[in-house]
Amino acid sequence: MGLRLSGKGQQSPRMVIFAAIFILMTLLILYGSNNVNDSIYTPMHVATSHTLKTTDLKKWAGKDGYVPFHGNKSMTMHCHNCALVTSSSHVLGSQAGEEIDRTECVIRMNDAPTLGYETDVGSRTSLRVVAHSSVFRVVRRPNDFLHRMDSNPVIIFWGPPNKIGRDAKGTLYRLIQRVSMTYSNVSCFSIAPSKMRKFDALFHRETGRDRQKSHSWLSTGWFTMVTAIEICDNIKVYGMVPPNHCSPFSRRKPGSKKMPYHYYKPRGPDECVTYLQNESGRRGNHHRFITEKQVFARWAKQYNITFAHPKW
Ligand SMILES: *[C@@H]1O[C@H](CO)[C@@H](O)[C@H](O)[C@H]1NC(C)=O
Ligand SMILES: *[C@@H]1O[C@H](CO)[C@@H](O)[C@H](O)[C@H]1NC(C)=O
Ligand SMILES: *[C@@H]1O[C@H](CO)[C@@H](O)[C@H](O)[C@H]1NC(C)=O
Ligand SMILES: *[C@@H]1O[C@H](CO)[C@@H](O)[C@H](O)[C@H]1NC(C)=O
Repeated sequence: MGLRLSGKGQQSPRMVIFAAIFILMTLLILYGSNNVNDSIYTPMHVATSHTLKTTDLKKWAGKDGYVPFHGNKSMTMHCHNCALVTSSSHVLGSQAGEEIDRTECVIRMNDAPTLGYETDVGSRTSLRVVAHSSVFRVVRRPNDFLHRMDSNPVIIFWGPPNKIGRDAKGTLYRLIQRVSMTYSNVSCFSIAPSKMRKFDALFHRETGRDRQKSHSWLSTGWFTMVTAIEICDNIKVYGMVPPNHCSPFSRRKPGSKKMPYHYYKPRGPDECVTYLQNESGRRGNHHRFITEKQVFARWAKQYNITFAHPKW
């Protein structure tokens, strides 16, 4: 993929100069059209597999990592087949709704709705993974997110233990607890502080970068993918682009049309702009969406993960 200057090694210098100018122009056009101002595409270094101590995520799993908000439920979900529906606008037009709804377990993220998008994303939800920052958006519309779930649905909330941890007893914690008591057939869990640290350690091992020192935030996608690997024997991911998708060397056409970051926010930010800006962000903390996908690509070979819309 991408442009190569290799070949029979007998191009004239003029050809080489021409090709170099062409590549430069392409880069300029791409950066211009993507509105990415201060960034060069620099995915973080991802350690190659032989330098890694690989983690067996199947063994890494354990119900101890999840703390119930109410009662003494434990996280025992296990599925043979899972559909992991991303929130990307790549799901739009996929017509995958029926196939998703036929899958044993359907996993969604944050406040991604089904109402009005059933044809493309289906209507069932077995598991939702929700970031602390999305809690209000989810509990504000219980009809959309809690009534429309499978019969024994699970919601996993992740976030800093001082915000949603059991010992925090903060507003957010009490809010989720109240919801959890009201909708008693929905099992609500938070990720235990010890497991949050394991998620950081996993990022470090898989990318070679310390999460905090590299000013990275883990994404809900990261938590969801790891959780899915823990509980599912097979995973089909809908709407996730491959790691090189937003690279200037990808097959994406220059000036290709804007793809909203979220399918339910058609006027929201563009996916590649969001990915590239976060990937290269150095001041403050940023999501490393592209780096995370490089890890997912490796996990896909190790666990039974396939990608649809786009297929890769
Ligand atoms: C969980 O709670 C129920 C009642 O709320 C009780 O009957 C059961 O024994 C408890 N299970 C454990 C493992 O503590
Ligand atoms: C929860 O249980 C009640 C009855 O106990 C039922 O009416 C409701 O549909 C259930 N909710 C879900 C999400 O399964
Ligand atoms: C990084 O991604 C988040 C979405 O998780 C977005 O809100 C934010 O604007 C992005 N940051 C940059 C610098 O693009
Ligand atoms: C992949 O799927 C097969 C068949 O469903 C299952 O037997 C196997 O355990 C799975 N492999 C992993 C690594 O989960």
